[in-house]
Amino acid sequence: MKARFASVRGTSDFNTLESLRFSELVSKARSALETFGYQELILPLLEESELFAKGIGSTSDIVERQMFKIEGKDIVLRPEGTAQVIRYYIQYALNKQSDFHKFFYIGPMFRGERPQKGRLRQFHHVGAEAIGSDSIYLDGEMIVLALDILDKIGIGSRELKINTLGCSHDKVAFGKYLAGALESKKNELCQDCIRRLSKNPFRVIDCKKSQCKKVVASLGIGDSHLCKGCKDDFKRLLSLLDNLGISYTHVPQLVRGLDYYTNVVFEITSESLGAKDAIGAGGRYNNLVKFLGGPDIPAIGFALGIERILLLLKQKTQVKGLDVFVAVTDEVLEKNSFKIVNELRKSGLRSDCDYRGKSLKGQMRVAQKRGARFVIIVGDEELSKGEVVVKNMETSEQGSVKIEKLNEVLLENCKAYREDTCLGHTHAEN
Ligand code: HAM
Repeated sequence: MKARFASVRGTSDFNTLESLRFSELVSKARSALETFGYQELILPLLEESELFAKGIGSTSDIVERQMFKIEGKDIVLRPEGTAQVIRYYIQYALNKQSDFHKFFYIGPMFRGERPQKGRLRQFHHVGAEAIGSDSIYLDGEMIVLALDILDKIGIGSRELKINTLGCSHDKVAFGKYLAGALESKKNELCQDCIRRLSKNPFRVIDCKKSQCKKVVASLGIGDSHLCKGCKDDFKRLLSLLDNLGISYTHVPQLVRGLDYYTNVVFEITSESLGAKDAIGAGGRYNNLVKFLGGPDIPAIGFALGIERILLLLKQKTQVKGLDVFVAVTDEVLEKNSFKIVNELRKSGLRSDCDYRGKSLKGQMRVAQKRGARFVIIVGDEELSKGEVVVKNMETSEQGSVKIEKLNEVLLENCKAYREDTCLGHTHAEN
């Protein structure tokens, strides 16, 4: 039978094993973020479109052509989390509570891009934002944190690319330099970039078309647009990374496709991802809080793309099996077995039973398939003595246990096995 409905292009259905991988990844990321002193925010999926037009920039690809707008309203599905966190920060005047905040968020983002491997229309970010300091040590922390999350998840092979755009004055100078340098090579650019050039020359640097990449490479972008302070800060940051043994590549063409960035910007990439090679990216956005109507406060952050990390994960994931499966010898005893299942669940044991009236043999097959460590068999004879039969599925040993002792006995026996009770099958690798 052909399904009438299918998932929307550019979205992913995670099956149970993929969902498990997703949750494990999120829990490792959350633990790293908390270790670094970041606090979680859960913010809405809907925001005013103007927030991103102002925050990310009206000439950015995201705002120009990728926002999912709610029909008839100036509301969009959020394409990213930074502008949103800053909206939240300003709305609740968080600067009055403290002059320094560290937040993280984990959730879906939406961009109307042309779907391909690693590029989706609904994808997930693990993001962090620290608001209230322009210390290069905080820059260092952000980079260490992003890498630490990837380490914890098991992504060891990746490259860190880093650059500085300089302060807002330097960025203006950089823009002017780019506009001038690109003007003389205008005829070699694609039509989009010719248009971008007059509006925002930084977007030309991001263009993926080979003719524009060639032009950008020929510019020989240096650091002449940087003031002494910004040059020194960048040098100090690089030496901090050297000190920590973190390898990086300084890429002067790295400007990032969102307008809010100033000073340091970085990207973490993996060759194994192919064309869409960025696992995550971030940087400083020292003017954004003020620009969106808040106080003049510097900030920095990054976001990692969960789906791209999942593409890289090679380790096998196993679904946890049940601790206990409760089987009945006769349907009339279902009431008793249902009570037992619920008591076991209350004590935290992963327990289940059959709801399809299967024979005892059939129930035993289900128990095996579900990876149950123990099976409880509820039969007439034992019940009359206040007992049930408990079978260890690994050793096939079985014996009677008093119902009032059941939770205690099973908890004790399952404790040793809890972590390695898994179903036999593993996730098919990509
Ligand atoms: P971004 O570079 O647009 O930055 O996104 C961060 C990461 O999200 C990318 O490196 C990539 O792994 C993933 N990603 C982006 N678009 C897609 C897509 N269409 N499909 C799948 N994955 C995708 C930001 O969004 C900034 N807010 C990061 C930041 C936080 N900067 C400062 N603070």
